[in-house]
Amino acid sequence: MATQDEVERHARRFRERLARALVRDGLLADARWRAAFDEVPRHEFLPRFFRPVAPNGWAAVDLTDDDWLSQVYANRVLVTQLDGDPSRWDKARRTGEIRGVPTSSSSMPAIMAVMLDALSVAAGDRVLEIGTGTGYNAALLCHRLGDTLVSTVDVDATLVTTARERLARCGYHPTCVATDGAHGYLPDAPYDRVLSTCAVSVVPLSWLAQTRPGGIVVTTLNRPLGAGLVRVIAGEGPCGSGRVLVDDGRFMPLRAHRHPVDEAMITTLAEAPGASRPTDLPAAAVASPASPFEFYAGLDLPGVTALTLNPTTVLLFHQDGSWARHHTSRGRHEVIQGGPRPLWDELETAHARWLSLGRPRRSRFGITIEPTQQQLWLDAPDSPYNWSLGDQA
Ligand SMILES: C[S@@+](CC[C@H](N)C(=O)[O-])C[C@H]1O[C@@H](n2cnc3c(N)ncnc32)[C@H](O)[C@@H]1O
Repeated sequence: MATQDEVERHARRFRERLARALVRDGLLADARWRAAFDEVPRHEFLPRFFRPVAPNGWAAVDLTDDDWLSQVYANRVLVTQLDGDPSRWDKARRTGEIRGVPTSSSSMPAIMAVMLDALSVAAGDRVLEIGTGTGYNAALLCHRLGDTLVSTVDVDATLVTTARERLARCGYHPTCVATDGAHGYLPDAPYDRVLSTCAVSVVPLSWLAQTRPGGIVVTTLNRPLGAGLVRVIAGEGPCGSGRVLVDDGRFMPLRAHRHPVDEAMITTLAEAPGASRPTDLPAAAVASPASPFEFYAGLDLPGVTALTLNPTTVLLFHQDGSWARHHTSRGRHEVIQGGPRPLWDELETAHARWLSLGRPRRSRFGITIEPTQQQLWLDAPDSPYNWSLGDQA
């Protein structure tokens, strides 16, 4: 096993390599954030985590594994908790592989860099982070702003205790509290910036109410299709307006904003019979985060989820019982639909509308938040093309 000195030396090399890659990808333009990524030791926050094992399993990794450090400093999300249960890691270690739903992680460094950049912090800014998780992102904030200006909250008290200890080991002592971040954190308000590292179906009004007018809230939207990273400028009181960011981040949802997946229903729909018809639309148009149509598809088909069942089959479904199964074979696309609404027909209509609007990408969409409603819109707040955020959940 490597000595502590060797670990630190290797870690520094891996860390600098990661930071260089983020700079090369244009994600770390600000030298002060680069310094934070160069210097904050991510491995201190990730002594153990889970590695995904295809198709649906998780294996345990810790600092005794040979590739631990290289995994820690890969540009990858690292899941650190399954099913809200700290004992799952031990079970995975004992049995080799387990199944479970991720409930905490250290986010992908590229997305962290995008969100930190979107926060546009200045010296002296007071920041609230929702979703402490491992504490690594809080450490980056402390490195940049100083720990007296950083408050971070997580709904999971065990995670908070561990993160607080790890932050302290690195010399950081932010306010680190176990509480439901859906209510913000009033004792340290007002904030100049609020950063949520868990996704929300609607932006909690408390975050805007606790941000000074002109301050900034950055969060990901938890939409079943299309997600969306948004940057909102706070107004007076619980309101604000902003833009959807070009880059996207998929985050685990705030616990109260989860969409539980009905595994039995998925199994049934994966085999459900029906008449098949050809379609020109490839499944990737709706199932791939890289598709420029995906964000719009989520707006026009609210509540519809796309699930990749295997490399050739994608399932769309809605809680009203509607479903569509898209299959590709030798470059030909076919679809079978069932339930009250023909979802693939609706998707094709949405795709035609998207083409007629000039194929709008994420950067053309914005968001308005008022006490009684939250809306996404195309091009301008008064656009005839607008969608209620509540419907998107
Ligand atoms: C993607 S992880 C956060 C990653 C973290 N920022 C880091 O650097 O490791 C999302 C976190 O949000 C937390 N979370 C979920 N619901 C929450 C809520 N209602 N209030 C506060 N935190 C919540 C989860 O417990 C989880 O730790």
